[in-house]
Amino acid sequence: MIAYLNGQFLPKDQIQISPDDRGFLFADGAYEVIRCYQGKLFMADAHINRLKRSLRHLRIDHAGLDQLLLVAQRLINENRLTEGQATVYIQVTRGAAPRSHRFPAKETPPTVYAAAAPFHPHQDELDHGTKIILVSDTRWARCDIKSIALLPNILAHQLAVDRGATEAVFIRDGCVTEGTHTNVAGVFGGTLVTAPKSNYILPGITREIVIDLCGKLQIPVREFPIFETELQKADEIMLIGTTVEITPVVQVDNWLVAEGKPGTITKKLQQAFYDLIAQS
Ligand code: PDD
Repeated sequence: MIAYLNGQFLPKDQIQISPDDRGFLFADGAYEVIRCYQGKLFMADAHINRLKRSLRHLRIDHAGLDQLLLVAQRLINENRLTEGQATVYIQVTRGAAPRSHRFPAKETPPTVYAAAAPFHPHQDELDHGTKIILVSDTRWARCDIKSIALLPNILAHQLAVDRGATEAVFIRDGCVTEGTHTNVAGVFGGTLVTAPKSNYILPGITREIVIDLCGKLQIPVREFPIFETELQKADEIMLIGTTVEITPVVQVDNWLVAEGKPGTITKKLQQAFYDLIAQS
């Protein structure tokens, strides 16, 4: 596979990154994952804009971010990923410098890395639903930044895997925030409810699409916290994100959501989402 590092396209196994890179030493950077359908990057502008926002909040200056759209497309083309599905991963760190908590010298260039990979959707989960677990949200208070520091997400996700589930959903102060790599919505009496944008969730690009689709389908939306104690009253629960698209949740810990079957609103949104991909 061909990957990209700091202006160069190289075979991925020839890419070399300094052990002094602050991404390696401190997880000092931000990332994005862009989905690609049949060679076309999906919502790429929105992902690049969110990367810019993350980097601005991390005070990592980088002028060349718009070119990453071209980089991402070239990675898809050169790796012959124009048929089927793929993802492009982009990571920008504060660059390589001797280890110190203070920022490196101003002239230190950020490290920009990007790679594409084939993507195989979990069709069974999309069709029949999936199981999640609930865990305490031990993350920092800037979850709106797509930081590469993901230890709490990884530990929670592995706990889900260990328990036969596919995602862990965080609970903070008694409310559902989001999953380890997904946003979460519930349906209560026909209204879609999802956590409001705040510093405790990533402003998901798929979440925004789902809210728009609800408008088109005349499904009322309430951006309001879902209390853990109310979750069992949900008629439907869904995971939302670039990799999971809109995946129905049919089990939470050891209880079933609406008798363990994907809900009708979730299915409607899934269909509308696929129509949107086909049009774009
Ligand atoms: N994760 N919340 C978190 C914590 C995420 O990491 C993600 C995406 C989302 C969904 O956002 P979007 O719809 O923009 O993909 C929500 C990516 C896919 C990942 O880490 O692999």
